[in-house]
Amino acid sequence: MLLVMVAHPDDVQHILLTSKLVDRGTLCTNAMRAFVGDGLVTVDVSRWKVHRKLINPTFHSEILEGFLEAFHDGGLFVSERLARTRGAATEVHPPVFLAAFRSFCSTVIGMNPDLLIPNALAEEMSAAVNDGVTTVQDWALKCIAMRSAATEDGPTKTRQRLLEALLKPGGQTAMPLDEVQGELMNLLIAGTETTAVAVSYTLALLALHPEWQDAAHQELKDVFGEGDDYLRAPGLADLGRLRVLESIIKETLRLFPTVPILPRMVTEDLWLSGGSGRKVFVPEGTLLLVMPFLTHRLPQFFQDPQQFDPSRFLEDRVNKDHACSYLPFGLGARSCVGSQYSRLQLKVFLADVLRRFRFLPCSQREDLDDSALAFSLNPVKPIRVSCIPVDGRNT
Ligand code: HEM
Repeated sequence: MLLVMVAHPDDVQHILLTSKLVDRGTLCTNAMRAFVGDGLVTVDVSRWKVHRKLINPTFHSEILEGFLEAFHDGGLFVSERLARTRGAATEVHPPVFLAAFRSFCSTVIGMNPDLLIPNALAEEMSAAVNDGVTTVQDWALKCIAMRSAATEDGPTKTRQRLLEALLKPGGQTAMPLDEVQGELMNLLIAGTETTAVAVSYTLALLALHPEWQDAAHQELKDVFGEGDDYLRAPGLADLGRLRVLESIIKETLRLFPTVPILPRMVTEDLWLSGGSGRKVFVPEGTLLLVMPFLTHRLPQFFQDPQQFDPSRFLEDRVNKDHACSYLPFGLGARSCVGSQYSRLQLKVFLADVLRRFRFLPCSQREDLDDSALAFSLNPVKPIRVSCIPVDGRNT
């Protein structure tokens, strides 16, 4: 099979926006299905259209606003786990993964995480993503059983959460039951692993760049005040004012895009250019690998590309030269369904832990760069930081 890696934004635009290629190809989807089940990420194109139409509205901004409290609970959960480390070197991934899993249950599923994830299962879950899908399958079946067993749906709402939209009390479904299960598994894994990886890289980079960590701390003091309610739950207005933190997240996702490869099957012959003006023929049946990881490091679009410099985003320098040079959440019809959910969750988690802790480096920048480009970005050595309470504050 011919595989073509794509980095230049002209080609990214041609593939994802102009030609609107949406098929990820069987080679990749079969491999991914083993890890994430069969849902939006992996279903064939005809079913994908139907599923995406049903699922898109369940991530509407009006619904997301109501999720802030659950994200804050997640931020507190991570803070409490970090406090237990008492300054020892630690991996941030496992507690963030569990916190994201808990938030996912309270938000997308709409159920109490303590009922869905007993403690022992929670510990097992963080290993399960690497070891297989059985635990996730069982979790999805439990969600389905609990929702089906409910006798009523409560007051009618204009906007429904994912599980409410896919499955009615009594068991009536919007798609075949095995597809509901597949979607729950797919979304759970797509939504938790990505968050854990992104928070791990962000905190490690802040530990290595104390000037930016100071800037984030200062901004948090400006926005939350220094009074008794400094540690309050972040509201939408607070989050909107966290521009430094937002730039830090964006810069982290530029250097370390959590989803570093976007596969697309060529369904009709096409021509690419590599940005050179020379046409390159790409026959039907080719598997294109659009690589945000490479696009984000092209020096003609990002000056000094290896440098961690959030000011690129603060000063709105990114995307000035090309609208498709920055795509951490993909572009076009098959872009991330949870991008807005994720942006809010990342900001809340980080605003919560950064108001409580200062992070010190354990992993070096070379350790972060030493990452495997898989379906999600994987550091070869686990990313570690250590943390100390800020101003004597703890949780
Ligand atoms: C740091 C966080 C995240 C990043 C960087 C990220 C990135 C991406 C990217 C780049 C894609 C497009 C892949 C492609 O074009 O082939 C994608 C798709 C997807 N993402 Fe995310 N994502 C994140 C978080 C989430 C969350 C929180 C959820 C759900 C709650 C989610 C659910 C999905 C799903 C279901 C798809 C497949 C969409 C489709 O094929 O229609 N992601 N994500």
